[in-house]
Amino acid sequence: MNYTELFYPPRFAVGPGSIQAITDFTKEANLTCALIVTDAFLASAPVMAAVTDVLKKAGIPYYVFDRVISNPDAATVDRAAALYTEKKCDHFIAVGGGSPIDVAKGASLVAANGGAIQHYIGVNRTVHQGVPVIAVNTTAGTGSEVTRAFVLTNRENHTKAVSLDHHCLVAFAVSDPQLMLDLPGEVTAATGMDALSHAVEAYCAVNHNPFTDGLSLQSAGLVNGALLTTLHEPYHLDSRTDMCWAAALAGYAFSNSGLGLIHSIGFQLENICPVPHGQAVGLFMPYVMDFHRQAIPERIADLGVACGFTDKSIAAKQVVAHFYEMITAAKIPTLREVGFRADDIPALAAMAMEDPTLATNPVQPAVEEVEEIITRAYCNDLQ
Ligand SMILES: [Fe+2]
Repeated sequence: MNYTELFYPPRFAVGPGSIQAITDFTKEANLTCALIVTDAFLASAPVMAAVTDVLKKAGIPYYVFDRVISNPDAATVDRAAALYTEKKCDHFIAVGGGSPIDVAKGASLVAANGGAIQHYIGVNRTVHQGVPVIAVNTTAGTGSEVTRAFVLTNRENHTKAVSLDHHCLVAFAVSDPQLMLDLPGEVTAATGMDALSHAVEAYCAVNHNPFTDGLSLQSAGLVNGALLTTLHEPYHLDSRTDMCWAAALAGYAFSNSGLGLIHSIGFQLENICPVPHGQAVGLFMPYVMDFHRQAIPERIADLGVACGFTDKSIAAKQVVAHFYEMITAAKIPTLREVGFRADDIPALAAMAMEDPTLATNPVQPAVEEVEEIITRAYCNDLQ
């Protein structure tokens, strides 16, 4: 047997005003009591008021779990699940970016399967579909609103674990660009780079297929056309909407084809330096793509064509240089600026070699090659 199975959430509302679609969904699904999962900052932000206004109009009572921190851990997931059970809720509403959405997805598995999230870290470890999660996305980047992945950090050994489970796909995703207009530029840039890196890695991954290829190329083109405009004009609704699409398409893509070396190094950098995920992957993206020009020149060239470089014979080199310029224009910090030291290059390379996302990288690199990629990034050497 050599077939492909696709995973994506059953319903997804995208565009200005899509937050209102929660009303119809909760009615149709007969949902009666929500546990909102968010962080302390968003709990008092206008986006939270927008969500609770919709719930009040729909007559849905709710409780709030606002203790999500960035890079959430298993204990946070278990606490959210315990509050859900204690308050007799029947669905979660995640409000935020990747961290609150991942916590809600994990807690939904615990609520439906019992025990603790630790039992379900890995690949498809659950028996039952998670309880319904509505994901209200407040950033355009992680794609968590549409993926079957959740990422948890182990604070004792400073490692991140990416779990895959189709039972944690959300029941309903909302990406409303009107909720993102006041997002700080630094967050817009980092999450946008995360979306672009998902598009690149999903297109290059060994498990790519026609479904993920189309989504990846479309996503890369959208980020290329919209991200810098969004940074220069934060209230540009069309560009924000394009970024919502880009993040979702890239999320659909990598959830079905996998990631690769950009994330292998990026995830592990986060275990060494306190750097936001989007920055961590963004700063390695051009160097990994340049490395991939040896093994998969055609596919890197395709990404260039998707970004407007029409001469395919030189599009691969052009898109690598172009993404480097985008990263600079988006003010993504350099490796030195995030506090990384040259002494840590061998350790980071060794850690990246053990990262599970490397399994779907187009080639299995030698540790020396990974060290060279990191060294080039450290030296800003993209010649
Ligand atoms: Fe990512």
